Amino acid sequence: MKLLVTGGCGFIGSNFIRHLLAAHPDDSVVNLDKLTYAGNPANLADVAGDPRYRFVHGDICDASLVRDAAKDADAVINFAAESHVDRSLMEPDAFLKTDVFGVFTLLEAVRELKIPRLLHVSTDEVYGSVERGSSRESDPLRPSNPYSASKAGGDLLALAYWQTHRVPVVITRSSNNFGPYQYPEKMIPLFVTNALEDQPLPLYGDGKNVRDWLYVLDNCTAIDLVLRKGGDGEVYNVGGGHEVENVVLTRQILRLTGRPETLIRPVKDRPGHDRRYSLDSKKVQQLGWKPRHPFGAALEATVAWYRGHEAWWRPLKSGEFRAYYEKQYGRR
Ligand code: NAD
Ligand code: DAU
Repeated sequence: MKLLVTGGCGFIGSNFIRHLLAAHPDDSVVNLDKLTYAGNPANLADVAGDPRYRFVHGDICDASLVRDAAKDADAVINFAAESHVDRSLMEPDAFLKTDVFGVFTLLEAVRELKIPRLLHVSTDEVYGSVERGSSRESDPLRPSNPYSASKAGGDLLALAYWQTHRVPVVITRSSNNFGPYQYPEKMIPLFVTNALEDQPLPLYGDGKNVRDWLYVLDNCTAIDLVLRKGGDGEVYNVGGGHEVENVVLTRQILRLTGRPETLIRPVKDRPGHDRRYSLDSKKVQQLGWKPRHPFGAALEATVAWYRGHEAWWRPLKSGEFRAYYEKQYGRR
């Protein structure tokens, strides 16, 4: 297959492109990425020379560029997004542009070019906080922050294009991913790298919010399966099945990095902080997917990766990140 991947220089997109090139020798990839603060060509340095890979620098909101990049594609897979909840509380504009208007631009291109598949990567956050039980694909969307509201907007638009124009969309909604190449603003890489730097770990509120963690390589195999086997107009939840309170995970990270619990710094809670996410993933399991990486081993491998890749994350924690960090958490 010839694939157009958007947002492939970010965390999940870069892991997905690497997975794809290794798992499917006959596939080729065009990667269209705007290179925002979260987009990093270094994430794909090892495949940049592969003749089956081509990078295009640009914005998914740019209709003519998208049409050009998509023209020979058998499928489009959209990872491009503004993805960090805390940033959506400070500067929501870019979230609406990319996560809603950008999806619209892709839908129009897929419709016009009659591309047989658009896989849109979404999130469990669109269901909002789930106090009990687990979200199913048919549950109502109740997003509670500008990031999840804009992701829900993109999802609804995609499903509407299936209903009205039969644009062949399929959506995955995954839980919290972790693993190599995750930008160090997100909890796990932030806490691991702060611990390695002997800096405090800023834990929001009472630390008892629950997330369901999914190793990024397991998400890649789910996306790959849904791309090839998923039904048009369908949504597939992809949950890791490992729910844990933030404070418990924080202690685990400190153990793995060999740092003391005194590094935990309770800080003011995130406004509108969803208490718990939980996904019912039976539908994607019926397609034949299951996570292959047990949480403990995957977390250990992730900590080892950050330990071994200081040259990757240290530059990311200066410059733009430092300004963001000071605004978010105050001066260190
Ligand atoms: P990320 O922030 O690491 O990467 C996003 C990528 O998109 C970057 O390379 C960035 O340069 C690119 N991008 C942003 N705006 C763009 C635009 N207008 N045009 C082209 N490229 C643009 O994000 P991620 O964590 O890899 O998430 C990828 C997708 O998965 C997102 O849609 C996100 O909502 C979803 N998701 C993420 C998680 C998670 O835990 N990280 C969980 C569920 C769903
Ligand atoms: O659930 C899927 C979502 O997971 C994705 O759609 C988002 O793109 C991704 O960013 C992530 O959102 P979260 O808000 O759950 O992830 P984050 O890493 O920001 O936070 C995880 C938990 O840790 C959350 O309860 C907030 C808490 N936290 C986070 C940070 C950054 C802290 O306590 N301190 C922090 O400094």
